Amino acid sequence: MQLPFQYIEALPRYVGQSVTLKGWLFNKRSSKGLHFLILRDGTGLVQCVVAQDKVDAASWQAAEAATQECALEVTGVVVQDERQIGGHEVQVCSVRLLSPSENYPITPKPHGIEFLMDHRHLWLRSRRPWAILRIRNRVVWAIHTFFQERGFLQLDAPILTGNAVEGTTTLFEIDYFGEKAYLSQSGQLYAEAMAMAFGKVYTFGPTFRAEKSKTRRHLTEFWMVEPEMAFYDLEMNMALAEELVVHIVQEVLRSCRMELEMLGRDVAALERVQAPFPRLTYTEAVELLRSDETARLIQARIEALKEEQRQLEAEKVENRRRYGQAKQAEKRRIDAREIEINQRLEDIEKELENLPLWEASARHFQWGNDFGNSDETVLTWHFDRPIIVHRFPAAVKAFYMKRDPEDDRLALGMDVLAPEGYGEIIGGGQRADDLAFLEAQLEAHGLPRQAFEWYLDLRRYGSVPHSGFGLGLERTVAWICGVHHVRETIPFPRLLGRLTP
Ligand code: 4AD
Ligand code: MG
Repeated sequence: MQLPFQYIEALPRYVGQSVTLKGWLFNKRSSKGLHFLILRDGTGLVQCVVAQDKVDAASWQAAEAATQECALEVTGVVVQDERQIGGHEVQVCSVRLLSPSENYPITPKPHGIEFLMDHRHLWLRSRRPWAILRIRNRVVWAIHTFFQERGFLQLDAPILTGNAVEGTTTLFEIDYFGEKAYLSQSGQLYAEAMAMAFGKVYTFGPTFRAEKSKTRRHLTEFWMVEPEMAFYDLEMNMALAEELVVHIVQEVLRSCRMELEMLGRDVAALERVQAPFPRLTYTEAVELLRSDETARLIQARIEALKEEQRQLEAEKVENRRRYGQAKQAEKRRIDAREIEINQRLEDIEKELENLPLWEASARHFQWGNDFGNSDETVLTWHFDRPIIVHRFPAAVKAFYMKRDPEDDRLALGMDVLAPEGYGEIIGGGQRADDLAFLEAQLEAHGLPRQAFEWYLDLRRYGSVPHSGFGLGLERTVAWICGVHHVRETIPFPRLLGRLTP
């Protein structure tokens, strides 16, 4: 199909030719007889130069009247120019105002995160969300190609369910025609049934947890990909998880260079994400956590954060000094940078407050407890790539986990922790395949036997060893993008205290 307009990302194919672009005004600079319109169409940005002596009066007027985020149609000739945003410029022959935009609220002034979140429906048009969500898209694509190329079937698990999977404390309960139902916490139990029917499957859908704490890692609605494989043991499961993570990172490195650069991501850190990932048992991880080396890493982190704080403060002073004499475009850049700096300073301050507590938590960690967010973060500082922790105390893990035949206190679970402090991105393990054991576990966990009868059938009819895991999409994207909080990695985040927009 021949479109009646072109996309900005396609401009390299049209150098020297006339194109028509449709989009929104991202930014505008003006000088005598000239308007420089930065047009945004979702695929990219391009500067469109409108010269008064080259366009008719109606076009000149449209360019004069154009305000931030008004919709425009621009026709002009594409010129290659490496100095310009995107490497091209359009020399305009005509401009048409398609739809006005008055007092657009997301100006390049420093806004707090709550303001931006309240305006998420508009904030999505800005550069940073653009880069992050394009990477999210690529991660999803990488996940599908990974599993499809390996013969997995993608089959969906229901969202309305009668079963708790990951404990009863984070269930969203709803009324289902007078019966109690829940929003799915995980598609796993259904994936297990499907693995017995199709061999290798994966579910990929939204999952829900009534997380009552505000952390940088928790959403109440998040997306999870959950592969489940018949005849896989824990070893094979860990190997698959490792291969998947490497594949995703490689794909983003291959196809999202520009986005990573826009986010200021340290690409070298991603390039180190190569197999094999260090593997530690839970018991080894506990020893590491309690070690002097961990205390030293925490002290080093405190010093590094203080140094970063000093540098950012100095940059702010310098920016303010330059502001007075700066041109319009430079002022905008300084304003945008100020938003970033303030956000980072806030995060640093919070972390500096917490670090002494983290140190105490690590030093006095008791074997048998579950790792908290801070423990995971601190563990990752010992390594330059993701790590896999396996064989956890059964008491802190879900009812469905198989016990370690070598040590009955342990469950054959595994977590993949992302480096640079990001922590758990994958949780999974080998599933209990013995009927009597599972029945006892349901009872021990206080779960209603009747709701799980169908699940127990999987152990009555040809039960086999099987394994799987769940990878949290938002946490993975946050790590790959190097963004602090998962709320920026989903178009419309759902968090404690946030249901709109
Ligand atoms: O470790 P979790 O709870 O494991 C399960 O749900 C298993 N049933 C998966 C399976 O074996 N099929 O969650 C898996 C992953 C976590 O590692 C994390 O990445 C993500 O899901 N996750 C969350 N992401 C954002 N917000 C939350 N509240 C999350 N809770 C878990
Ligand atoms: Mg987990």
